[in-house]
Amino acid sequence: MSGKYVTETLGTGESGLARAAEILAAGGLVAVPTETVYGLAARADDDGAVGRIYAAKGRPSYNPLIVHVSSMEMARQLAEFSPNAEGIAAQHWPGPLTLVLPAKNSAKLASSVTAGLDTIAIRMPAHPVIRALIEMSGFPLAAPSANRSGFISPTSATHVLATLDGRIDAVIDGGACKSGVESTIIAVRPDGAFDQLRPGPISFDGIGPVPTMGHKIEAPGQLASHYAPGKPMRLDVIRVVEDEFFIGFGEVEGDCSLSVEGDLEEAAARLYACLHLAAESDLPRIAVAPIPHIGVGQAINDRLRRAATPA
Ligand code: TXA
Ligand code: MG
Repeated sequence: MSGKYVTETLGTGESGLARAAEILAAGGLVAVPTETVYGLAARADDDGAVGRIYAAKGRPSYNPLIVHVSSMEMARQLAEFSPNAEGIAAQHWPGPLTLVLPAKNSAKLASSVTAGLDTIAIRMPAHPVIRALIEMSGFPLAAPSANRSGFISPTSATHVLATLDGRIDAVIDGGACKSGVESTIIAVRPDGAFDQLRPGPISFDGIGPVPTMGHKIEAPGQLASHYAPGKPMRLDVIRVVEDEFFIGFGEVEGDCSLSVEGDLEEAAARLYACLHLAAESDLPRIAVAPIPHIGVGQAINDRLRRAATPA
């Protein structure tokens, strides 16, 4: 893709991380592996740097970003932690959980990070590469998924380059992501109540999704159409019709399979790679086998439903 940048591919060794930290310090953009998907990182305390994320992704300015931290000390400078928020963070951080909390006025952040909301989304990732980068940098990193807005999320450096080559300064190639779907998002209310805003790798029983019918969508990124492979897509399919690229699961075989064993964790890890294959195939349509709506299967079905919704 032609653009104003030559996108460097960096390794996960000392020199690769040092180069990435140098680019970030100067306000540039680096795609970084995390345990969920690759994130497009910029320093969260700089308006120009954060503005570059929105521009590179073509992301609407009303859709706020997740701020990634490497310590509770850093997190507490950004948001008010109620006892319930402290509790859930202690249980699941570092890991694939994002908390939406009341933002602190004193937080030194670019205003576009929160898109004008009085809450902030924070995550302490477990992946050693992004953790090392935040620690080296000394500032938190704003990082949405590293794909053009609306397209399939990236779980490899190749996926990142598929839509962002020439639009960002660098990508760190850390191999395939382990979880494969974006973090679970939980809002912790001022009264201590929890609401799930996006299903993800961590499933919480009894924390229902916020009803969106007749309400404003609370996580603005949770629009009906998202993760789109650019082709018509049918779900819960047992038998394909002609011209369909078939994504199988368990006993239902396909052109590729999310998991031959019927393992939901494996299916989550392979979801976006299979969607990328389906998008690149010569076949004009996509069909997907039924996936059980349990555990991380809820997150898989959520992403498939949005991928199948026309823009
Ligand atoms: O696993 C992940 O969460 C990945 C990796 C890179 O960490 N990041 C990610 O970012 O999925 P993104 O931008 O693709 O999704 C962030 C979601 C969006 O749906 C956005 O609307 C929501 O978080 N969000 C951000 N700030 C919010 C806030 N203050 N209140 C409600 N939702 C918020
Ligand atoms: Mg995304």
